[in-house]
Amino acid sequence: MEKVLLKNIENPNSADIAEYMSVGGYQSLGKALGRNPKDIIDEVKKAGLRGRGGAGFPVAMKWTFASGDPKTPKYLLCNADEGEPGTFKDRPILEKNPHMLIEGMAISGYALGAEYGYIYLRGEYPAAKHILEKAIKQAYDKGFLGDNILSKGVKFHLAVHQGAGAYICGEETALIESLEGDKGQPRIKPPFPVNVGVFAKPTVVNNVETLANLPYLIEIGGETYSKIGSPDCPGPKIYCVSGHVEKPGVYELPMGTNLKDIIYTHCGGIKGGKKLKAVIPGGISTPVLPPDKIDCQMDFVNMPKHGSMLGSGAVIVMDESVCLVKVCYRALKFFEHESCGKCTPCREGTGWLRSILGRIEAGQGQEGDVDLLLSVAGNMIGKTFCPLGDGAASVVQNFIKHFRPEFEEHIRAKACMAQG
Ligand SMILES: Cc1cc2nc3c(=O)[nH]c(=O)nc-3n(C[C@H](O)[C@H](O)[C@H](O)COP(=O)(O)O)c2cc1C
Ligand code: SF4
Repeated sequence: MEKVLLKNIENPNSADIAEYMSVGGYQSLGKALGRNPKDIIDEVKKAGLRGRGGAGFPVAMKWTFASGDPKTPKYLLCNADEGEPGTFKDRPILEKNPHMLIEGMAISGYALGAEYGYIYLRGEYPAAKHILEKAIKQAYDKGFLGDNILSKGVKFHLAVHQGAGAYICGEETALIESLEGDKGQPRIKPPFPVNVGVFAKPTVVNNVETLANLPYLIEIGGETYSKIGSPDCPGPKIYCVSGHVEKPGVYELPMGTNLKDIIYTHCGGIKGGKKLKAVIPGGISTPVLPPDKIDCQMDFVNMPKHGSMLGSGAVIVMDESVCLVKVCYRALKFFEHESCGKCTPCREGTGWLRSILGRIEAGQGQEGDVDLLLSVAGNMIGKTFCPLGDGAASVVQNFIKHFRPEFEEHIRAKACMAQG
């Protein structure tokens, strides 16, 4: 399949507007502005585009809710927080193809009737801030952003807002709080952001990769787009692969590519010919899979049938040398640190899970610790204010579900038995 989202990124000047326009950039914006906004939403619906931020929510549905709300002005927020451990799929778009994102946002803004957009950028991406700001200025100078885009009377303004490094600010309502200048903590839903979002106005939050799909979708039309990859959730998908493979990196493939093929065909298999031990398929929050469960289509609909989730499409591969107790401990240390503290089950639960895992990892585990972990996790699931707490608890549940003997052996031997 031809590259869509990573098109032209080998060109060292791909972030420049002249280079982007030389490969057809901004033509879709012109095409979109010649049509009715509702037609654009219908095209996106026909395409079957789902959000790439993790939940796979249908894009056209979200846009319809926001466009149908009479309050104005409306806002379009691009979620560029990319904080999920293992995830680096949005970064090449932000740094190498910023105009594809800007064009995608201008098209989306027009379709849903938003006059203002923000790119909420991960605090740890300083290079991307500079690149995006330069690209936004170029787009204003060429008339692709502003009060009268392409002299069609369409208004859309865009700015970058950089976060301060909190994972929870990737959750859309915490992102909105942070953008307003408040502490980045999730809001209760409903009301949903599509009705009461930033500055209490209708707001759509979409992921970078989601929005970057728009120029191509408009270029080829929803019908043709819907034939790419999985029929259930079509389109191109960026998978980012890290860990023990021969060729880790960023791979643009059709949505629904088999996980086994990603690891063994595209990434060249397990590094040094070692044995595969475990795979986290979609970022640290998604359920870990043992080697006999990785023959599955990587998309939003199929992964749950195989006991996991597509999440952000961040594949983390672990060979036989890895201590899974240590991985689980390290993950919980992350969740404890990133818990925003708003609700007790997550604030206290992540700390308890980290503490029990820490003692097992240090060779000081006690008999019954595995059941204690399951009990703490069970008291968190479904009782936290936002999905961060659920995610943290399910990481522990799934590691134990598939690798319980390794946890028990760690406690019994008071040491790690993995072949390091
Ligand atoms: C703890 C947490 C962190 C999240 N981090 C991100 C993130 O870094 N980027 C992102 O696009 N979505 C993230 N999300 C999902 C967003 O809340 C939201 O669903 C998404 O931005 C919607 O965009 P989409 O419909 O295009 O997928 C996160 C969710 C949670 C609960
Ligand atoms: S689940 Fe965790 S991150 Fe989410 S609101 Fe509660 S304390 Fe904050």
